[in-house]
Amino acid sequence: MKKLMENIYEAIGETPMLRLSRITNHYGVEGNIFAKLEYLNPGFSKKDRPALQMIEEAKASGELKTGQTVIELTSGNTGTGLSIVCQAKGHPFIACMSEGNSMERARMMRALGAEVIIVPQAKNSVKGQVSGEDLKLVEEMTVKLTKERNAFRADQFNLDSSYRAHLLHTAVEMLEQCDGKIDCFVDIVGSGGTFEGCAEKFKEYNKNIRCYIVEPANAAVYAGKNLINEGRHKVQGCGYAMDLSKVNKELIDGCIQVTDEEVTQMTRDLAKLEGTFVGFSSGANVCAAIQLLKDKEKGKNIVLTLNDSGLKYLSTDLF
Ligand SMILES: Cc1ncc(COP(=O)(O)O)c(C=O)c1O
Repeated sequence: MKKLMENIYEAIGETPMLRLSRITNHYGVEGNIFAKLEYLNPGFSKKDRPALQMIEEAKASGELKTGQTVIELTSGNTGTGLSIVCQAKGHPFIACMSEGNSMERARMMRALGAEVIIVPQAKNSVKGQVSGEDLKLVEEMTVKLTKERNAFRADQFNLDSSYRAHLLHTAVEMLEQCDGKIDCFVDIVGSGGTFEGCAEKFKEYNKNIRCYIVEPANAAVYAGKNLINEGRHKVQGCGYAMDLSKVNKELIDGCIQVTDEEVTQMTRDLAKLEGTFVGFSSGANVCAAIQLLKDKEKGKNIVLTLNDSGLKYLSTDLF
């Protein structure tokens, strides 16, 4: 058990890992899915980890000054992590978020002391579905405010500290919790930080561990496919159909596509069968694992993360 803590951010990481045997039985596949329960972090998502790593490294290097404002664009999860870390370390925090993301995220960040700027979506966008175009608008606002407020940008898409959180911690914990018995890793990418950090560590441990990128079928750019329906999908926090600066393509052993319908069903199954109450992107990872266990990776051990809490989706049609 962790000792008595002085700061809430000390509770980030060292999350439990669960074998999803009820899901593999239900889908009639051979093999194991080992899921890291990242929604049990203090901000209810895996993005608490890069939030902490980015702030600690920037403070250590002197790039982030005492009391300086921090800013970042977020689908809500990195912003929640940053709200928690910045509050405890004495930095005002500004979160820039698309109005396409579910609003419980904005309310949560405000409750945690953040200033939240909601950026209107592009003309053709749909509420609950944040496209690459929407993200561009949020990026423009973030760049503008960074200058105006003389803020430090906790840039999850471009700082090495963002993926190092997973290289130094998430992947190391997974290897330990699975006694190193990992054959594959699947991950739906947003910034690509989790994929890059974990894939790099796994390949360093054993170059035969296969690492698969997961993408919404409508936005499968890593698989070399054209956008369908302008790349729209329901998987918030991921699938922006863009080239990710942090992802080393040499680490990718394959790409898997998942549809909104199968992701929604799987996320509901996770709650009902396993008692893991999580969001769309977690369901996407498990869908990808099931696809692999049915065919190419039959009988193997697949690791993945359950990324955030289902409580963040109560205003959507998920539950
Ligand atoms: C719910 C959710 N799932 C997945 C991701 C993607 O993680 P990464 O940025 O490490 O690729 C994010 C990123 O914000 C997220 O919020």
